[in-house]
Amino acid sequence: MDNRPIGVFDSGLGGLTVLNEINNLLPLESIVYFGDSGRAPYGTKSEETVIKYTFQDIRFLLNQDIKMIVIACNTASACSLKLVKNNFDIPVVEVVQPGASTAVTKTKNKKIGVIGTLATISSGVYEKAIGKLDPEIEVFSKACPMFVPLVEEGWWENDIAQRIVEEYMLPLMEQGIDTVVLGCTHYPLLQHTISKVMGGSVTLVNSALEVAKVVKEVIDQEKIQRDSMIAPVYRYYTSDSIKKFESLGNSILKGKIHSAEKVDIERY
Ligand code: DGL
Repeated sequence: MDNRPIGVFDSGLGGLTVLNEINNLLPLESIVYFGDSGRAPYGTKSEETVIKYTFQDIRFLLNQDIKMIVIACNTASACSLKLVKNNFDIPVVEVVQPGASTAVTKTKNKKIGVIGTLATISSGVYEKAIGKLDPEIEVFSKACPMFVPLVEEGWWENDIAQRIVEEYMLPLMEQGIDTVVLGCTHYPLLQHTISKVMGGSVTLVNSALEVAKVVKEVIDQEKIQRDSMIAPVYRYYTSDSIKKFESLGNSILKGKIHSAEKVDIERY
């Protein structure tokens, strides 16, 4: 048993899609969330910068006495996982492998599309992960750098979102893919618009649920469940405007955020 919270972080609000699924699957666990909206997007930054940010985010969470780290950000996972995995003595869960494995089980014609930030797509992590599971699968990757600013602005389903989604997704569809991995934790918030553009024949893989399942597996394996008699606590931190975090965060978490606090992340 371990009553400490799970630490979850992302470059901004996208990781709340992962937090939501963890909360649904493990309602007794406490969670500390950090969204680095002040320095988002990560996906357009260099690998060195993303690694530096990732370690600062983790140091901040470790300061909150957490029992597990969830990197709820594909960009941070893609750039820093190898370094992070060997650096801390608590379990680390990331988002790439669960999404890749799910896509491999879903595709029928062995043509998978992967969308993500520039940093994630340039790293080639999804091609590697999918290729290891099934070398016959063809992977078509596309960076969609405008998606994160759309999400952080709260423009998930308007005409501008639709137009931008068409611009990125229609060329990908021409490749004949039957499955698309939403390789960025911000993208599930555009899922409705992406589905509208892609039509019903393409399966969208939102790895948030798969990540939550991995978190549960690790907690069970390590026997670090929380005492079920104590009510869980949720704490939210951002490096940018609290008001914006609470307002957009609550549209993702359906009003569960009562208050957030601001962090000066450069101190960590
Ligand atoms: N949500 C993040 C990801 O999964 C990062 C988006 C960004 O900050 O560029 O990649």
